[in-house]
Amino acid sequence: MTPNRQALESALCALENAEHCTMFASGMAAIMAAFSLVASGEDILCAKDIYGGTFRLCKDVLPQQAITTTHFDAADPDSIRSLCKPNTRLLIYESPSNPTLKVFDVPRIAQIGRELGLVVVFDNTFASPALMNPLDFGVDIVVHSTTKYISGHSDVVGGALLTNRADLAEKIAFYSKCTGAVPSPFDNWLTLRGLKTLELRMQRHCANAQVVAEFLAAHPQVRAVNYPGLATHPGRELAQRTMRGFGGMLSFELDGSARDVATVANSFQVFLLAESLGGVESLVAYPKMMSHASLTDEERREREIPDNLLRLSVGIEDPQDLIQDLEQALARVAHPARARA
Ligand SMILES: Cc1ncc(COP(=O)(O)O)c(C=O)c1O
Repeated sequence: MTPNRQALESALCALENAEHCTMFASGMAAIMAAFSLVASGEDILCAKDIYGGTFRLCKDVLPQQAITTTHFDAADPDSIRSLCKPNTRLLIYESPSNPTLKVFDVPRIAQIGRELGLVVVFDNTFASPALMNPLDFGVDIVVHSTTKYISGHSDVVGGALLTNRADLAEKIAFYSKCTGAVPSPFDNWLTLRGLKTLELRMQRHCANAQVVAEFLAAHPQVRAVNYPGLATHPGRELAQRTMRGFGGMLSFELDGSARDVATVANSFQVFLLAESLGGVESLVAYPKMMSHASLTDEERREREIPDNLLRLSVGIEDPQDLIQDLEQALARVAHPARARA
């Protein structure tokens, strides 16, 4: 344990209303540490709408330890009861979802999971502790990929697990010590430095994302926009109830062919084409070819991730620069009405 790590862990505890925090070398290392609470022969209940890396871990790595996964629809919390088996040990979910920005009832899912005696794990990477505190809703363990909003500058990789349960914290700390996937003192220092502006950055991420979402919603070449801050978003009321802002992530469906999507994705000058999220700079990602490329066409269909979907991580730049960039990128593909003429 180094002083930088101690300082970072206590700062994250303060932000997430947690008693215990363990830092890891990446978000995936943190998620794997949470899964270490599950033994061979046991089952994990995993939300269908989950980060692609978590899905891949459940699908391709955990079976090697004879741990199985059952997927549930987080939009239907009561389905958890019928899917829970005698050997189910842990439930994991996230909200807003990636990349379709669905908003789920975080407190209700936590309540059902706990009633069933499961360890309830919530990945709070998208909202960050500035916008949501899931432990207050009854979640047992909060996961963060601190690579994203918490560090905020796309220059460090890290992860954290936070809990108020001393029994779980002890097991997590033991696993961390035994397996050694810990961050370096410099990584912790960079993360702490980023953390100092989390609140300010999140305010600007939210404000910019709202402007971008409204611009896209009114654009003739855009078929649909997924952003909880839009009046038309089905999860808006739930987001208002559980979050202190709608976040910096959004996705939209282009009204065009797969080639048009690729053209737009490659035409940005301010938005960088990259898979990560949560940094000060705006990023664009093409889920079908990037974050969700390991899913089959069928698995993507099940998760309602269409081939024409682009995901934006809206940064903290001047919003007019972002709008101009979107305008010029969208102008490069023919409007279907013009193409047909
Ligand atoms: C929601 C979510 N959880 C976990 C991770 C994994 O984090 P890391 O890249 O730090 O391993 C990511 C990465 O994109 C993510 O988006």
